[in-house]
Amino acid sequence: MTRVFSGVKPTGHLTLGNYLGAMRRWADVDQHKADALFCIVDLHALTVDHDPARVRRLSRQGATLLLASGLDPELCTVFVQSHVDEHARLSYLLECVATDGEMRRMIQYKEKAAREQARGGSVRLSLLTYPVLMAADILAYGADEVPVGDDQTQHVELARDLAVRFNQRYGHTFVVPRATHPAVATRVMNLQEPLSKMGKSDDSGPGIVYLLDEPDVVRKKVLRAVTDSGREVAYDREAQPGVANLLEILAACTGGNPSDLSGVYETYGSLKKDTAEAVVEVLRPVQERHKELCADPGYVEGVLRDGAERARAMARPTVDAAYRAIGLLPAVTDIAVSAGR
Ligand code: TYM
Repeated sequence: MTRVFSGVKPTGHLTLGNYLGAMRRWADVDQHKADALFCIVDLHALTVDHDPARVRRLSRQGATLLLASGLDPELCTVFVQSHVDEHARLSYLLECVATDGEMRRMIQYKEKAAREQARGGSVRLSLLTYPVLMAADILAYGADEVPVGDDQTQHVELARDLAVRFNQRYGHTFVVPRATHPAVATRVMNLQEPLSKMGKSDDSGPGIVYLLDEPDVVRKKVLRAVTDSGREVAYDREAQPGVANLLEILAACTGGNPSDLSGVYETYGSLKKDTAEAVVEVLRPVQERHKELCADPGYVEGVLRDGAERARAMARPTVDAAYRAIGLLPAVTDIAVSAGR
């Protein structure tokens, strides 16, 4: 039985990158595997400057979009990270296994810390330790597979390293997980800056397609995508990153292959037009279902309540085992005390 865990953090409105790189496959493939869990990882949203009301709003919206994208609570567990204490409990133990040097080597930490500093802001300690919390998210559930976009590969590698190290030092406790990726669109790039990832927390709105963008907004963004100085439509990530990005998006939306598709188009204009329509069509059912779910907030709340309960029951035994393995004295419960008297 393969157990799957993945998550998305509520730091901004969810994007086409989140959808093609992760969420769509969670619904199409991963939720059908045994005991799959999908999580709004809200604690991770506190690692950078944040507005509390916005994080709450985006968490609710993110959960609604997970369901709108096809996750079925009858098949999988959908929940909010902060509703399950086991994540934070385990994170501390893993901090005692991880090293400072390991944390400072994380690419996302280096990039985000540099960005914060350039803005004149301070870097929160939690930004440095974030990958350990992510490892705790995964290891608490004994996940075998972690379906993510390419940008999370290094973090999943760290989770593997920590699992192996903990098991070697303290006895077998954790399943060693591995990252899985979609066949195409593992890294959807910003339409205005095709050398940068399309990230939800970036400021460059025109280069980011949000899942809830109106069709005309999507069309405008795709039609204005930065292409390259050449004329030929070729699939070459190095030489033509803008065109390659459009071909990958089109391939991911239509089920095609970016190389094959490059032969179909003679102009950038026709490629952009078809890509825009393909994205609009992929987002249409998600947006329709999102609208229906927004009309029934009680349903979403119920899913999250049940999800947290199921998730707690799954994580608790592993995290308790890790506490014992690492050398912490088990708490004696009132029942055990009175039974012993
Ligand atoms: P986050 O919230 O940045 O992204 C959620 C998922 O979307 C993928 N993704 C992309 N894929 C392709 N192209 C893009 N432009 C793009 N942008 C985002 C991400 O790879 C991810 O799969 N640290 C994680 C959240 C997390 C997590 C976890 C994931 C916390 N704990 C445990 C898996 C397991 C993150 O920041 O994802």
